Amino acid sequence: MQTTETPRSLIMLFGATGDLAKRKLFPSLYNLYRKGKLSGNFAVIGTARRGWTHEVFRDHIKDAVLSTKKHADNVDEFAAHFYYQPHDVTNAESYIQLKELADELDRQYQLEGNRIFYLAMAPEYFGTISDHLKSEGLTDTKGFKRLVIEKPFGHNLESAKALNKQIRKSFSESQIYRIDHYLGKTMVQNIEVIRFANALFEPLWNNRYISNIQITSSEKLGVEERARYYETSGALRDMFQNHMLQMVALLAMEPPINLTTNEIRSEKVRVLRALRPVGGEEVPDYFVRGQYGAGEINGARVAGYREETNVDPASNTETYVAGKLLIDNFRWAGVPFYIRTGKRMAAKTTKIVVQFKDIPMNLYYNTGQDLSPNLLVIHIQPEEGITVHLNAKKPGQHMETTPVQLSFASSSKSGINTPEAYEKLIHDCLMGDATNFTHWDEVALSWNFVDKISKVWENKQIAFPNYEAGTMGPKAADELLAKDGFFWWPVEDLEVKPC
Ligand code: BG6
Repeated sequence: MQTTETPRSLIMLFGATGDLAKRKLFPSLYNLYRKGKLSGNFAVIGTARRGWTHEVFRDHIKDAVLSTKKHADNVDEFAAHFYYQPHDVTNAESYIQLKELADELDRQYQLEGNRIFYLAMAPEYFGTISDHLKSEGLTDTKGFKRLVIEKPFGHNLESAKALNKQIRKSFSESQIYRIDHYLGKTMVQNIEVIRFANALFEPLWNNRYISNIQITSSEKLGVEERARYYETSGALRDMFQNHMLQMVALLAMEPPINLTTNEIRSEKVRVLRALRPVGGEEVPDYFVRGQYGAGEINGARVAGYREETNVDPASNTETYVAGKLLIDNFRWAGVPFYIRTGKRMAAKTTKIVVQFKDIPMNLYYNTGQDLSPNLLVIHIQPEEGITVHLNAKKPGQHMETTPVQLSFASSSKSGINTPEAYEKLIHDCLMGDATNFTHWDEVALSWNFVDKISKVWENKQIAFPNYEAGTMGPKAADELLAKDGFFWWPVEDLEVKPC
């Protein structure tokens, strides 16, 4: 049973001088601190190669917090909980020194041996670090030990298996918290509630009433400074294998018998097991890849992907992926799930559109009006809310119809809500709630699905670039739906305004 009080603990952050720590983790920890959601007994040890002192690190923490907030109370008091230790992740001696500091802070803050090891750094070191944590005795305490791992968890199924095998030597599955920050987003968490807490939707949530489901997650940004990583990843591994498939699982899963971590995860796993595999010559019928060329974003010219720093001028990496997924089970047989995600697109938005089937007979056809299908739109970001699209009578003498919308919008406090997502996930981890983290079975099934596609793409070049920056992707993605008689609902027509 969980208690509502956050347990005391030591957080050891590997990669503490990095971008993720600065932009997401420190502001999130601060928010938890300010809201009283961190136990007063907490300490953070930041480690990285740089030879910083505790003071330099604390100034860095303060900068990180103040860059996200105009006014931050008690930021000095907050930063005083942070300690820094220069560290070489491959050197056993470094871990021995780290253990000394950890044990000392454990005594000083009475942390009862509770430890969270947060790996916010290059994935090639995940295995090495977890080996050393055990061999140098950092996991040898009487409290809880949890390992938090950022993505990517492997590059394909084989490498993910090898990594998992290695970290499982030091941590059990229940001690491993694999981050998928989309699972911390308010409206992603809301999918379950919208579905299972409303009599209105669940009876219709199947292939008798739903014609298709569309998930769009588009970004205006390009690869920024991450080209080295992105060149080996592409949109399929960077977004589709994790965030997009996680949203599919939440949309398609059966109602769990209760809300425990195991029950929810096992329902999600069943969806991933039911995904119809797509491989070999079938891939072009189900998946479209794209790469942006030069174009215009917010009125300014931007370079094409191949011109970006650290990108191969002949790169075959996809910056866009669209796909059609079929889930072979009783509920979803025949209902396509269309997914698209990419960089340098026309809008920064994540939306889910559930399109219901047309009603059996349109009584209003003679008025010359085609009825619009009913839609349920779940707005994940930047706005957060839901919209239901219905048909109603136009005011006046005739029985003419007009589309109307019922909207619920909660204004997103932070614009793009990623920092808030991290805040929730860090808190969940402190509380020992792994529901919104990815289980190994989910990771393995996702890679198994994705590997068949990447194998085909890696062995076959196509003519890139094939979409202009500032657009919604290649034409082939429209054709993917058109051949089934559907189209992507334009994201700009689906806006929801905060009430
Ligand atoms: C990350 C990807 O997981 O998600 C990035 O590695 C991407 O490439 C980011 O930009 C998108 O997250 P969000 O929360 O801004 O939609």
